[in-house]
Amino acid sequence: GKDIVSFDQFSADDVRRIFALAGHMKQLVLGKEPCQLLAGQLVSLLFFEPSSRTFGSFAAAVKRLGGQTLEIQNPETVSSVNKGETFEDTIRVFEAYSDAIVLRHPRPGAALRAAESAEFVPVLNAGDGNNEHPTQTVLDLYTLYERFGRLDNLTGVMAGDALNSRTIHSLMRGLSLFENNTVYLLSPEKLRLNREDLNMFRSRNITIHEITSERDIPRDCQYWYWTRIQKERFDSLTEYNEMVAQRFTVTPALLAEYASQEMILMDPLPRIGTIDTEVDKDHRAVYLRSQVRNGLYTRMALLALVLGRA
Ligand code: CP
Repeated sequence: GKDIVSFDQFSADDVRRIFALAGHMKQLVLGKEPCQLLAGQLVSLLFFEPSSRTFGSFAAAVKRLGGQTLEIQNPETVSSVNKGETFEDTIRVFEAYSDAIVLRHPRPGAALRAAESAEFVPVLNAGDGNNEHPTQTVLDLYTLYERFGRLDNLTGVMAGDALNSRTIHSLMRGLSLFENNTVYLLSPEKLRLNREDLNMFRSRNITIHEITSERDIPRDCQYWYWTRIQKERFDSLTEYNEMVAQRFTVTPALLAEYASQEMILMDPLPRIGTIDTEVDKDHRAVYLRSQVRNGLYTRMALLALVLGRA
């Protein structure tokens, strides 16, 4: 099927194919060229969790390709949330109305359940709890590729909530498709990747070092990838605040001390205590520039592919 549930479904060749198409989409958008690739197609955007970038870029992607969207952004309006309808039934109802479903959901595994429930239309995982966010990884890899011209031989830091960050979980999968990549994971002790996931990643084609202080960041990294402590994943505010007190924030001083001039500073956003706004004007800051824009181009490419239009 054409569902996109986990980044594990992609090969290195798939990534290259998506990139070629994303480059084409970028030219379309920058050239303001009208495009009707998705004319007659309707895509349901079912967002059971808040979102700015993923929702906005998917909606923009469909519309820029001449398609239409059916948008659910408030889960309280969905019968499965408020009247006890099953999640599976909700998915089957929306598949009857649309040609693809883009799903964000707080529950890990929700995208897989949706893909199994939908019989006729592709389901795209727009983030399922603390599990995965595969389309974010496509834009993250595209951003790295645009800057360095390769996806192998890269060393980077991924900082923040490694335990809960679905963007880190998918990005590690993505980088493990290529050769000789090394990741330094910088997290508070309690927010380290869970041990089972760590062992799973260590059995793959990627080298992982866990570090607990900024002082351990190697100075020759090609990228820093900062993620927020995720308030919505904690049972209590006390626990969240305890983790916030231990978080790492990128400041001009931290960059000056540990980052090369050639690296890029990434953040999937939203930025909650991850990066000082002082850093935004730095030439290495790509989170509000390339990353956000690449989210549009890569999602245009993914939609064209899963809908059989490319
Ligand atoms: N990066 C990301 O997924 O952002 P949103 O939660 O705003 O979609």
